[in-house]
Amino acid sequence: MTANTAEAQQRIIQQVLDDKRDMPGALLPILHAIQDALGHVPPDAVSGIAEALNLSRAEVHGVVSYYHHFHSEPVAGPLVQVCRAEACQAMGGEALWAHACSRTGKQGGHSLTLEPVYCLGLCATAPRTRQPGAPRMARLP
Ligand code: FES
Repeated sequence: MTANTAEAQQRIIQQVLDDKRDMPGALLPILHAIQDALGHVPPDAVSGIAEALNLSRAEVHGVVSYYHHFHSEPVAGPLVQVCRAEACQAMGGEALWAHACSRTGKQGGHSLTLEPVYCLGLCATAPRTRQPGAPRMARLP
């Protein structure tokens, strides 16, 4: 990361903190805004967020690491999440995952990141994937 990129990231993070720190329950809106702006929540940002919200670094880190939506490192290319939880498994999720892995070269060298997730809250229309933008119906191979 160049100094300019690091400075730009810091400006974005500071702007988010200035805009949202006084909101009730500000932690999740702040993390979402940083994730949306940068594609991840840099580990360096955790202490500043904690200080702004009068939380411990452990509390902020705990939220970042608990929710699979948040990433501590940038992902390679577009992120494609494939649900691997029970309802999706019952409706062909394993075949969908295998197909996605075979098409994307999950083991590396591709321009997107394939990520297993455990329930997208869309079980009634399983199996599901989520790609950048709104959740949508997956196609089985
Ligand atoms: S189990 Fe896949 S969306 Fe809920």
